[in-house]
Amino acid sequence: MDHSTPLSLLLFLSSLSFILLILLRRRPSRRHLPPGTLGLPFVGETLHLISAYKTENPEPFIDGRVAQFGSIFTTHIFGEPTVFSADPDANRFVIQNEGRLFESSYPGSISNLLGRHSLLLMKGSLHKKMHSLTMSFANSAIIRDHLMGDIDRLVRLNLEKWTGRVLLMEEAKKITFELTVKQLLSLDPCEWTERLRKEYMLVIEGFFSLPFPLFSSTYRRAIKARSKVAEALGLVVRQRRGERESGERKNDMLAALLDEGGGGGGFSDEEIVDFLLALLVAGYETTSTTMTLAVKFLTETPLALAQLKEEHDEIRAKNGESEALEWDDYKSMMPFTQCVVNETLRVANIISGVFRRAMTDVDIKGYTIPKGWKVFASFRAVHMDRDHFKDARSFSPWRWQANSGIDSVNLFTPFGGGPRRCPGAELARAELSVFLHHLATQFSWVPAEEDKLVFFPTTRTQKRYPIIVQRRNPPKRCIE
Ligand code: HEM
Ligand SMILES: *[C@@H]1O[C@H](CO)[C@@H](O)[C@H](O)[C@H]1NC(C)=O
Repeated sequence: MDHSTPLSLLLFLSSLSFILLILLRRRPSRRHLPPGTLGLPFVGETLHLISAYKTENPEPFIDGRVAQFGSIFTTHIFGEPTVFSADPDANRFVIQNEGRLFESSYPGSISNLLGRHSLLLMKGSLHKKMHSLTMSFANSAIIRDHLMGDIDRLVRLNLEKWTGRVLLMEEAKKITFELTVKQLLSLDPCEWTERLRKEYMLVIEGFFSLPFPLFSSTYRRAIKARSKVAEALGLVVRQRRGERESGERKNDMLAALLDEGGGGGGFSDEEIVDFLLALLVAGYETTSTTMTLAVKFLTETPLALAQLKEEHDEIRAKNGESEALEWDDYKSMMPFTQCVVNETLRVANIISGVFRRAMTDVDIKGYTIPKGWKVFASFRAVHMDRDHFKDARSFSPWRWQANSGIDSVNLFTPFGGGPRRCPGAELARAELSVFLHHLATQFSWVPAEEDKLVFFPTTRTQKRYPIIVQRRNPPKRCIE
């Protein structure tokens, strides 16, 4: 009885739709789908993609198809026929036409766990309004005037506890989680935040499972964890509503969401909780993985690490007794660090691209994407393309130095673009820079063991990048 029945039904239905699809393609029509192969029924080319992305070198999946079919090709991944774009112009067209010709589309597992009222799933004018509200809590001015101090303090607080062997990915996750909780809710790290973080990890694991409670215990566990997280956040929301009525005012994302109520209707607790929950997800793994990989790439590129250390020792020496980092240090004294940040984003491809769905038949570069089809705009393919970046597959921060001539608007899109461009982009850059400052000035380190990079289900290293750290003497000016 049990699981085999729905599974075979599912297989049958999807083979059926697959056959229909092939018939559809055979039908003489004015549609010119991009060339490509759909692979096996149901799974399509998903297994090829997954097996490539589970290695340190996933490029052959894209390289092979681009060589055979060109930079826009048809494939069949994650249960649906999909137009895959490795072309910067097509990518730009797709992300700029969000809401007009295309709309964002997440797999069922992710949208169920995020909740309906999260920014990532909003559409139309509500999305527009809430996207700019989110931006107004993470833009440069806010970072300069409010967040920089918190970032600096929380990074130092965490690094203070480091000795011996450190699991860098775990530590980076703790830091970014604490920062986001502070930014959204004005809460300082405590047992409560750490418990909340543990539940979050379970929710995120569920993103890459099949969204059927019957099949997947990971998904069941994630749903349970989600309701615990929602409950905890709901408590904070209710408490803050109460405080607000007695005139107390905080300057954070939650206050802004409660204020939105002032105008028409107002958000319910459920809406606010969904919104906050998703913001915590969006900034958590992405930023902490980028931090970890920056350190990995630097460790493997000693010349770059030396140059980075030099830059930060100089800032540290200038600041003398005070360890605290100022906005101006970040903005004007870290030119090489900004090259390291860009190069880490380019090579790591934490978000390797974005899925969209065509809202109507869309013509693009001589092909037609049929209404309802999925499109994957691959940023990774462009970032790793030797035609666009010289020596594209190696980590070389120097490529970003003055007058590099890199067309960063079209070719470099680690944060996406258009109406859904990442509202946390500036914040992520600032967090990364502050983290690198304190790491480089306070510690030297070596990898504790060999650790490999993989790209599926998310970009990560297999062992969470263990390193052995040793505290450095504070650098002094003019001594060497
Ligand atoms: C290195 C770190 C990060 C990377 C690489 C990254 C990347 C991205 C990308 C590519 C998108 C576009 C998704 C799409 O177009 O469908 C996005 C959206 C988003 N990001 Fe980030 N992100 C990072 C950090 C953050 C942080 C720190 C926050 C928290 C404030 C954040 C919040 C969001 C949100 C809420 C969205 C959805 C925007 C929308 O749909 O309108 N991200 N991110
Ligand atoms: C890093 O990339 C951004 C685009 O995302 C660009 O504006 C900036 O100039 C780049 N920084 C450096 C140092 O090249």
